[in-house]
Amino acid sequence: MDNIIEINNAIVFRGATRVFDGLTLEIPEGCNTAILGPNGAGKSTLLKLLSRELYPVHHNNSYVRIYGRERWDVWELRSHLGIVSNDLQQTYAAHAVGTDVILSGYYSSIGRWKHQRFSEAQRRRADEVAATLGICALKDRKFAAMSTGEQRRFLLGRALVNDPDTLVMDEPTSGLDLKACFQYLEMIRRLMADGKTVVLVTHHIHEIPPDISRVVLLSGGRVTADGDKSEVLSDQRLSKLFGTPIHLIYRNGYYQAVPAA
Ligand SMILES: Nc1ncnc2c1ncn2[C@@H]1O[C@H](COP(=O)(O)OP(=O)(O)O)[C@@H](O)[C@H]1O
Ligand SMILES: [Mg+2]
Repeated sequence: MDNIIEINNAIVFRGATRVFDGLTLEIPEGCNTAILGPNGAGKSTLLKLLSRELYPVHHNNSYVRIYGRERWDVWELRSHLGIVSNDLQQTYAAHAVGTDVILSGYYSSIGRWKHQRFSEAQRRRADEVAATLGICALKDRKFAAMSTGEQRRFLLGRALVNDPDTLVMDEPTSGLDLKACFQYLEMIRRLMADGKTVVLVTHHIHEIPPDISRVVLLSGGRVTADGDKSEVLSDQRLSKLFGTPIHLIYRNGYYQAVPAA
């Protein structure tokens, strides 16, 4: 099977900090994966590598390949890899209405701009996406006037409008109440059932859907464990990862972490 993401021996700096010192990680097509790590582990940096906002420094055999290529035109990349970043929700244009949020995916822009043109087919597709996500009724609502859960769905729609094969999701349910969280998790599960590959980057154990079978632990810019979810998610490993005693509870395919007695 082909690799969607292939990071080899990557050294990545942010300012003077060497965040990754030889990071190696492969994600094959169809391999739904959760990347779990505490604050400061390098999750946001990893997302920036995938969105091409950051590149590894040049040295021997250090590369980040997406669908086998190191160089991508952002336009072309959008239909392969959709990134639903959490940061975007904080910075997204408050005045953009629902439809514009989804349409902005065609340009990877924040909000909609006068010079942007959309074909009938693109508008139809945006409507279809809104219908699948159950947000048609909010198409004319300003982003700032939506609940966190509604905003999150529109940002997912913004990525889905390009029908990417792979979705990289950043803490998808953080800030959502239980109902919104469960609904959003169901949406992610439906996307996987429809054949999309989902890569989840998070520190929330409870948002790893049952259908994700591989878990990668990231700590201090290094992969410290990588394998089958049932093996990687152990009390011992998570306690070490987060630096606090953790007990895991498993129910209905989901995990919850509680303080170990
Ligand atoms: N702009 C920056 N300049 C210097 N160091 C940074 C910068 N951004 C992040 N870092 C450092 O890089 C490390 C990884 O950060 P980050 O990728 O944001 O982790 P996470 O998203 O997992 O919390 C942290 O030690 C952080 O302090
Ligand atoms: Mg982060």
